[in-house]
Amino acid sequence: MKRTIRDLKNIKGKRILLRCDFNVPLDNYGDILDDTRIVAELPTIAYLNQKGAKLIVCSHLGRPKGFDKYLSLFPVAVYLMKHFPNKVKFCSKVVGPEVDNAVEKLNDGEILVLENLRFNEGEELNSPAFVSKLAKLADIYVDDAFGVTHRKHASNYGVALKLPSAIGFLIEKELLTFQQAFEQPKHPFVAIFGGAKVADKLSLINNVMDKADTIIIGGGMAYTFLQAMGQNIGDSIVALDKIEEAKNVLKNAKEKGIKILLPIDHVALIKDKDKVIKTTGLEKGMVGLDIGRKSAKLFVDEILKAQQIIWNGPVGKYEDKRFKNGTIKIAKAVAKSGAYSIVGGGDSVSAVNASGVADQINHLSTGGGASLKLMEGKILPAIEVIDTL
Ligand code: 3PG
Repeated sequence: MKRTIRDLKNIKGKRILLRCDFNVPLDNYGDILDDTRIVAELPTIAYLNQKGAKLIVCSHLGRPKGFDKYLSLFPVAVYLMKHFPNKVKFCSKVVGPEVDNAVEKLNDGEILVLENLRFNEGEELNSPAFVSKLAKLADIYVDDAFGVTHRKHASNYGVALKLPSAIGFLIEKELLTFQQAFEQPKHPFVAIFGGAKVADKLSLINNVMDKADTIIIGGGMAYTFLQAMGQNIGDSIVALDKIEEAKNVLKNAKEKGIKILLPIDHVALIKDKDKVIKTTGLEKGMVGLDIGRKSAKLFVDEILKAQQIIWNGPVGKYEDKRFKNGTIKIAKAVAKSGAYSIVGGGDSVSAVNASGVADQINHLSTGGGASLKLMEGKILPAIEVIDTL
């Protein structure tokens, strides 16, 4: 069992380095377009703050190469200032004398927000020098940045090896949710997978194979399976090197009595004409980019029978509005089903939000890559290094 912040005793006056995932979308004016990830960190910040810790809060934002004024964490600090009036300070540096000074001046119950960790190249490199500078800021390290737990960066992996450590409430909740869904699933358990690349999802499918009753496969990855079944997929995306693995998945599922549902019709693009058509058969020159109405009905009917659902990845090219309908129908069906539902991955989560059904989903994961790894049954390195009880 990992140590959680509830297990930390006598933290009044202690310097705690709290790693959050404030990787939120900003516009060019610094307005936060979606605060979900900040809201998800508030319980941990509030708890440590109420206990009188001196909090040093850090996060990455985007993927900058060096300083980038559009990726400053200042807007996040301003957001926190509204939530914790007169308690939050911002330092425009990540490490160095200004940060050391600001930490030195922190009073009990104050919160210092550091600038974007990725402005320092040592962060992603997990450089020992950068790790040391971060570690010396604090007495205790708390990781609550679930979205980056699949990465071995200085501020999560490196620092956790240097300081006494614990996880925050968000990571605790994410871990428990996935663990329970996989170890004690409710049946019928329907897993829905989509996204363009089949290679990214094969181990995920294999991991749910023994647990789910039905696996629905949509998105670009479906075409590798359809080709493996001998169907004509026109010019749709296919991973030829994964055809054999796809055949194995289909064979295993059949042997184990697991239902695999694939699209039976498509919304496709005729490449030459840039024309969108609805079709049951894909021919040369056609690229399948969303599930058609019959497939949507097939999938929705199954979803509505479920007691538990996990969903990762859109069933069409969701970012193009011509091909987003299928994914929206899935989002609405998952909400309507009343099943215990877990949704992970950027596009599936944004489809849930765009459909206005977020409040009907039991767990919207804050991690894209990290939730995928958890669903694959893989170990998250940044969590592995946190102290156990
Ligand atoms: C995410 O957005 O999934 C996390 O914040 C991790 O971001 P990254 O993929 O840039 O490491």
